[in-house]
Amino acid sequence: MITVNDLNFEKFIPEEEIKSCVARVAAEINQDYAGKIPVLIGILNGAFVFAADLVRELTIEHEIHFAKFSSYAGTETTGEVKELIGLNMDLKDRDVIIVEDIIDTGTTMYNLLPRIQQMGVKSLEICTMLLKPGKLQVPLNIKYCAREIPNAFILGYGLDYNNLGRNYRDIYVLKD
Ligand code: IMP
Ligand code: MG
Repeated sequence: MITVNDLNFEKFIPEEEIKSCVARVAAEINQDYAGKIPVLIGILNGAFVFAADLVRELTIEHEIHFAKFSSYAGTETTGEVKELIGLNMDLKDRDVIIVEDIIDTGTTMYNLLPRIQQMGVKSLEICTMLLKPGKLQVPLNIKYCAREIPNAFILGYGLDYNNLGRNYRDIYVLKD
């Protein structure tokens, strides 16, 4: 068990299992993109660990870039407005794969997809380390998912709690 800030977490997915899940999803990408040079876009901050492990399992040629959402408190009742920063490369006619740490409600992806689509990409797919199918609130076609998990708060392997805990090699779940 570990304590981060005021909360206790217990080990949930050990490093060895993460490694084999990442290898499996990388093998799918190696097969599907054979002969192509896809552009992977890791979503910061959380996806930096997964992206680093994923690309080192890829045997096909590819590019890796990173982008980040900045969230603002909106003046409208709709809540927050999100802006994408760092996505200034030319994606026209490219095969793009978005690399995400975790998809929870799916709102982040749902906002991001049309922005990338309008850059004239040839194809666009999602690759997520973790997915909480029970929390998904929007229609998303998630082609690559390393591991599905139940509705719980997760920490480690890039994922944080109040900006702490991203460095843990194993994935932890909040203890109730
Ligand atoms: P969504 O927009 O609801 O799908 O949430 C996606 C983002 O919320 C992820 O990229 C994470 O940064 C964060 N997130 C969602 N679930 C968790 C979790 O269990 N632990 C840590 N961060 C999470
Ligand atoms: Mg994230």
